[in-house]
Amino acid sequence: MVELRLPRNSTIGKGQTFPAPAGAKNVKTFRVYRWSPDDGKNPVIDSYELDLDTIGPMVLDAIIHIKNEVDPTLTFRRSCREGICGSCAMNIDGENTLACLKPIKSIKGDVRIYPLPHMPIVKDLVSNLDGAYAQLRSIQPWMQADSAPPPDGERRQSIEERAKLDGMWECILCFCCTTSCPSYWWNGDKYLGPAVLLAAYRWIADSRDEHTGERLDSLEDTFKLYACRTIMNCTQTCPKGLNPAKAIGRIKELQIERKI
Ligand code: SF4
Ligand code: SF4
Ligand code: FES
Repeated sequence: MVELRLPRNSTIGKGQTFPAPAGAKNVKTFRVYRWSPDDGKNPVIDSYELDLDTIGPMVLDAIIHIKNEVDPTLTFRRSCREGICGSCAMNIDGENTLACLKPIKSIKGDVRIYPLPHMPIVKDLVSNLDGAYAQLRSIQPWMQADSAPPPDGERRQSIEERAKLDGMWECILCFCCTTSCPSYWWNGDKYLGPAVLLAAYRWIADSRDEHTGERLDSLEDTFKLYACRTIMNCTQTCPKGLNPAKAIGRIKELQIERKI
């Protein structure tokens, strides 16, 4: 797996250091990327020395503690705190993951925290995901059926048909996978990326959806689908344990099968 670390001679400057409170015995340093569009300055890495005995166990607990008790200017997204909403996705200790699911004790040494890589930054740890969401809209991620529904209004699935959606409906659209993908780094304006392609396959595989042909037609594109080079970073980094690379492979197989 390609580690998403900054080079040792990173040009990001050293920022402020916020020392641990007096008497702290269990101190760990959190090195956090800081950049604001408002001050015209280059990004810096601020260091926050925290007493682990006074904060919760996850990296998100540390970030919330910094915001509430140390430095209210730190900007980040979070909502559920339970690995459900996907909003706390960031690069922690060289890996894209969810801050609320990342135990501090799993990290040796200082904790390095950056925004999701290769995306425009709104501020500090907040990436701009507008492009990724536009790509999600482009695959029309909702059921499309032209036939009339059964009299009771329910389009039923067998247990086997429903089981085909397992491993896809669980996606929380955190974009950890997409922002770990080298193909997306270089061609993110044209390649849909693993999160969106997983969502596309979720509807292609749904027995109730009647637009499978149109969906495959729209993906038959040198970049949208075929820019995936099966590097597998996406699957290795997914904090929900999903396998977007497998879904992409299945779409490619279907494209071949329908031409035979
Ligand atoms: S596949 Fe995994 S990493 Fe990618 S968006 Fe879904 S939950 Fe996040
Ligand atoms: S398998 Fe495809 S989508 Fe996943 S990281 Fe590799 S190139 Fe990107
Ligand atoms: S805060 Fe919702 S996934 Fe982390």
